[in-house]
Amino acid sequence: MDERRGKSVDIRTLIREEVLAQTAYAVEAARCRIKLDANENPLAIPAELRERFGALSASVPLNRYPEAGSMELTARFAESFGVGKDQVMIGNGSDELIQILCTALARPGAEVMIPSPTFAMYRISSINAGLRVAAVPLDEAFDLDLKAMRERMENHPPALTFLAYPNNPTGNCFTAERIEAILNESPGIVVVDEAYFHFSGKTFLSLLDRYENLVILRSLSKVGLAAMRIGLLIGSPILVRELHKVRLPYNLNALSQAAAGLYLDDEEAFLIQAREIIGWRSELFSAMEAIPGVHPRPTDANFIFFSCDFTADRIYGNLMARGILIKNFNAPGIIQDFMRVTVGTREENENFLEALRESLAE
Ligand SMILES: Cc1ncc(COP(=O)(O)O)c(C=O)c1O
Repeated sequence: MDERRGKSVDIRTLIREEVLAQTAYAVEAARCRIKLDANENPLAIPAELRERFGALSASVPLNRYPEAGSMELTARFAESFGVGKDQVMIGNGSDELIQILCTALARPGAEVMIPSPTFAMYRISSINAGLRVAAVPLDEAFDLDLKAMRERMENHPPALTFLAYPNNPTGNCFTAERIEAILNESPGIVVVDEAYFHFSGKTFLSLLDRYENLVILRSLSKVGLAAMRIGLLIGSPILVRELHKVRLPYNLNALSQAAAGLYLDDEEAFLIQAREIIGWRSELFSAMEAIPGVHPRPTDANFIFFSCDFTADRIYGNLMARGILIKNFNAPGIIQDFMRVTVGTREENENFLEALRESLAE
């Protein structure tokens, strides 16, 4: 018997249709021996930094709210980027900054332009904010299809365009001239999302002065602090000022603020790891290229997008059966039968390669 009292409410009728139509972002919860699905740094932060973080955490007054807006950190990051502190905003991961941008720009009827495939949260946050989404397929080389994007911009000027640089899941950096063409021609904000900057070394930061509509996103997730959820937005002071009105007051918790400070105190320790991962990336790429029937795509990120002469579902399943978790992107279109593997430690990569060879033979 139903014990609940009061009015019966059909909750689904209260929810916006765009939300009902969505599926929640899928995070793979399967148990695995080796986790190569989420583009994390496979290395723990160095022991000495971990100790310092422990001491810092112990001194955080847990009964107090954290510093609102992380203003001290904002000033430090601004200095490290060589921009004004009114040009920087810190988010609870760059995911939150994507959400804030979408919320602020969702005027009635406004549209977001994204290439396809790209990072899933651009679409999810846009739809949640009530924005329309125009997804323009990438060309055969997984580069921006400038002609199609120009057509879209002419017919439906986007308020916001998201360009991941390098792109997730394809791993490549789009041609810089094509991004600049969009910056020049778009009447809206153009976000260049540099979440994988530490592995690409390529940035649009120096173009901030030239393009008022340019916004850059960075993240500390991929370089070793995924658990702390620290994202950075760099843009024009006029935009940042408005975005602060959308940001929740205490969006970055005190432990994350401590971790971000630690990153700035000792950035080199993180960059050493990134360089190590870049070395493992080229070893992994060459080894994958040498396996008959395996086709890795060039990458600027800490992951490799690849296809095999077999269905992705079969290879993904065979790898899972060996305890190795990667990401399966099998969807109709240009990424049919593609998978993405994160660069792990040398040992993890060797395990993956061995399992991949076995999976192909099975
Ligand atoms: C292109 C891109 N942008 C942003 C993010 C989100 O990063 P964060 O952990 O800072 O929210 C990811 C994570 O996979 C990503 O691939």
